[in-house]
Amino acid sequence: MKISLKLGLYIFLSILLLETVSMLYLHNHVIQSRINQELESLKSRGNSHRDVLELSYSKGTLEHIGLMESHTDTDVVITNSTGDILETSEMVNAAMKAILRKNLPQISRNGLIIQSTWKNEPYIATVTPFNSKNEQEGYVYMFKNTGDVEELIDQLNKHFLFATVLLLFFMLIIIYFLSKALTRPLIAMKEATTKLSEGNFSVIVPIRSHDELGELAQSIQSLANELNYLKKERNEFLASISHELRTPLTYIKGYADIARRKDLDSSSEITSYLEIIHDESQRLNRLLDELFNMAKMDLHTYTISKQTIRLSSYLQSIREKVLPAFTNKKMQLQLDCEEDLIINLDPARFEQIMLNLLDNALKYSNENTVSAIKAKRLPDSISISIIDQGMGIPDEDIPHIFDRLYRVEKSRARDTGGFGLGLSIVKQLVEIQGGAISVTSTLGQGTCFTIKFKGDN
Ligand SMILES: Nc1ncnc2c1ncn2[C@@H]1O[C@H](COP(=O)(O)OP(=O)(O)OP(=O)(O)O)[C@@H](O)[C@H]1O
Ligand SMILES: [Mg+2]
Repeated sequence: MKISLKLGLYIFLSILLLETVSMLYLHNHVIQSRINQELESLKSRGNSHRDVLELSYSKGTLEHIGLMESHTDTDVVITNSTGDILETSEMVNAAMKAILRKNLPQISRNGLIIQSTWKNEPYIATVTPFNSKNEQEGYVYMFKNTGDVEELIDQLNKHFLFATVLLLFFMLIIIYFLSKALTRPLIAMKEATTKLSEGNFSVIVPIRSHDELGELAQSIQSLANELNYLKKERNEFLASISHELRTPLTYIKGYADIARRKDLDSSSEITSYLEIIHDESQRLNRLLDELFNMAKMDLHTYTISKQTIRLSSYLQSIREKVLPAFTNKKMQLQLDCEEDLIINLDPARFEQIMLNLLDNALKYSNENTVSAIKAKRLPDSISISIIDQGMGIPDEDIPHIFDRLYRVEKSRARDTGGFGLGLSIVKQLVEIQGGAISVTSTLGQGTCFTIKFKGDN
């Protein structure tokens, strides 16, 4: 069943139940108060006859009262204290007699209701005692035909029926639009997720409200955006990879072709070509190795085994490892680390991070410059910076340098043999250990990469 129909049905049934109960209650209440009104007015009419009788009891008065009542929709029967009828406004019928025969209890001066049920009874009735000055005692019985009351109730029922039908009609219209309005965003989201599952990630989910439904739509939209981005990134990555693979392969194939030529006699020429082929194969090998490592990181099959490290001695050993390369390029590498900095990290992965960053500092700096490693404690973290006085990174490239296979100038990296994978690996390694990496750089002046790990890391 469709959700809008289901929702509409639920709302309809609950309102119907509510309406039925309240209508029934109202109906009964209105009828009961109407009957009570009738009874009260009947009684007060009886009381006013009593007043007249008590004031001047005579045959004439009795006849006068009888005559008065014969012209109204009520009837009167006046009896003496033993029950003999003294005066009536109408012929006393069997139903009236049955009421007159009832045993009366002690009745107060203001009278008593002796027949209040109107259903299946022809009359409602009251009785008022009188006691005139000339010691004449008796009762004034007042009757009202329930036919009148039933007519009145019929009228009332018609009104109630009309109101109910009207209410149901408007209720159906409101429910129709309400359930449509409530389910429309759900349907839109369902359509969006169906498209997503079919691989169409460029969907737009309308966000109409700020409630839970709006949040759900927002989440689906972010998911779609993310998937779209991943798809785009994957395509770009594949394009770059095939490009990266093709370049060395072209070299290898080209030089192999030349080396195969029969007319080449100098063995030194052949050796130099084989040298190039060897270098390019090595480059290919390195690229494949790094790609493989990255794939492992993506699959989270990279095992991280954290250890407590004393940062100063650890950084010192890394510095010693890379120092020859720096000295070779007539560069300096300074180390400035606060004592007693203890950090919880995977040492092998951390070394990979540092070597990559230091490799960049070395590659992208000129001779006779100074690079530095600085480590210090911040209020809630430990920061490690690698600073160089190299060529810097243009502002427009900074957002991309952590992307895979991204290089600022393709030629820049070709000379240095880079693939543009180093920083993307660094970022992943930092993040899987719970850290964050940021960069600031001024073109022509230098670059500073800063890694931060939470203090309790
Ligand atoms: N310290 C730096 N100074 C100037 N430019 C830098 C620096 N570090 C990185 N870059 C720029 O960012 C790009 C991406 O760096 P990344 O380390 O990812 O790749 P790479 O060094 O070219 O190759 P790989 O590290 O894979 O051998 C580099 O090509 C370089 O242009
Ligand atoms: Mg690098």
